[in-house]
Amino acid sequence: MASADTQSLLDALDEPAMAIDHGVVRHSNAAARELLGVGIDGKDVRLAIRHPQALEHILPGAAGDVEITGIGQFGRPWTLSIRAIDQGMLLIRLIDRSAAIAAEKMRVDFVANASHELRTPLSTILGYAESLADDADLDSEHRAKFGAIIRGEAKRMLRIIEDLMSLSRIEAVRFVTPDDRVSVAEVTASAVENAGRGAQHCSIRLDVEQQLPAVLGDRAQLLQLVDNLLSNAIRYGCEQGECVIRVAASRGDGWIRLSVADNGPGIPREHLRRVTERFYRVDAARSRESGGTGLGLAIVKHIVERHKGTLEILSTVGAGTEVLVRLPIAP
Ligand SMILES: Nc1ncnc2c1ncn2[C@@H]1O[C@H](COP(=O)(O)OP(=O)(O)O)[C@@H](O)[C@H]1O
Ligand SMILES: [Mg+2]
Repeated sequence: MASADTQSLLDALDEPAMAIDHGVVRHSNAAARELLGVGIDGKDVRLAIRHPQALEHILPGAAGDVEITGIGQFGRPWTLSIRAIDQGMLLIRLIDRSAAIAAEKMRVDFVANASHELRTPLSTILGYAESLADDADLDSEHRAKFGAIIRGEAKRMLRIIEDLMSLSRIEAVRFVTPDDRVSVAEVTASAVENAGRGAQHCSIRLDVEQQLPAVLGDRAQLLQLVDNLLSNAIRYGCEQGECVIRVAASRGDGWIRLSVADNGPGIPREHLRRVTERFYRVDAARSRESGGTGLGLAIVKHIVERHKGTLEILSTVGAGTEVLVRLPIAP
C-alpha cells in the first residue's frame, strides 16, 4: 500500500491509530498524536508508547487484541488492536472501552441494588413467619399484627417486581417507535381520576388547553408516566396543609408540554440530577413508608425516551417541584 493511502486510511479513523514499521511509527492520525504527543511520527515505538505491557504485545508483531489500561492517560481502559498490514507493517488501534465499562458497572450495580431491595422485605417476612410458625402461645392480637406485617412486606416486594417488569418491558421496545394517536387530554384526565381517591389532603387541578393535538404514543405507557408523576406529587409534595397539585398540558412549537407541579418541600439540588436513577431516593425510609419503590422516575425517563420526548425536573427547596415532559405532536 502506498504511504499516502496508509495515511489517509488512518486519518479516516476516529480512534487513535498508527502504522508501525520495524519498531518505528511511520504514520499516525490526529487522535493518536493528541493522546501520545505531536512528535510521534518517525519515533521508535518504545518512545511513542511508553507503556511496557502494550509494548510487550506490539514489539513481537503478532496480530491480536488485548485489554490494557493507562496508555497515554492514567486509568483509561483500551482495547489495543494489532493487525498486520502489508510489507511487515503493523496497524495499531486503540479502542476506548470507558463506555462499555460504565455500562457493565451500571448493570452490576442494578442487579446488586435490586437484590438488596428485595432481600430487605423478605428478611422481615421470614422473621415474622418464623414467630407465627414456632410460637404456639402467641395470642390472636399478635398473630393478626404479624400477619399484617407479612402482608405489607409481601405487597412491597410485589410492587418492586411489578416496577422492574415494567422497566424491562419498556426497555424491550425501546427502539420501536409507538404509533397510536393518543390524546394527552384524555390521559391526564384519567390519571387525575385514578389519583383522586388517594389524595385526600391535597387538591389536584387539571389545566388542559382546548383542542390539544394528538401525540404518537403508547397510551398505557403515557398513563403510567402521568400516574407516576402524580403519585410522587401526592406522596412527597403534599405534606403541609395548603397543597395544590397542578397537572397541565398545552401546545408548544411542535411539542405538547405536559407538566405536573406541586408546592411541596422540593428536591435539594445535589439530589436533583440523580432522582431518575433506578432505586435512587432522597429519603429512602420515607419513600418505603409511602409505598415507593425508587423506580418511578426511572420508568418515566424510559417512557419519555421511547416517545422521543424530553424530561426536565425543576425544583426549588421550600417552593415545590415541577416535572416537565415534552412530547412531539403527531404529524
Ligand atoms: N414531587 C416531588 N417532590 C419531592 N421529592 C420528589 C418528588 N418526586 C420525586 N421525588 C424524590 O425522588 C425520589 C425518586 O422518585 P421515584 O423514582 O418516583 O421513586 P419513589 O417515589 O418510589 O421513591 C423520591 O424518593 C423522592 O425522594
Ligand atoms: Mg415515585
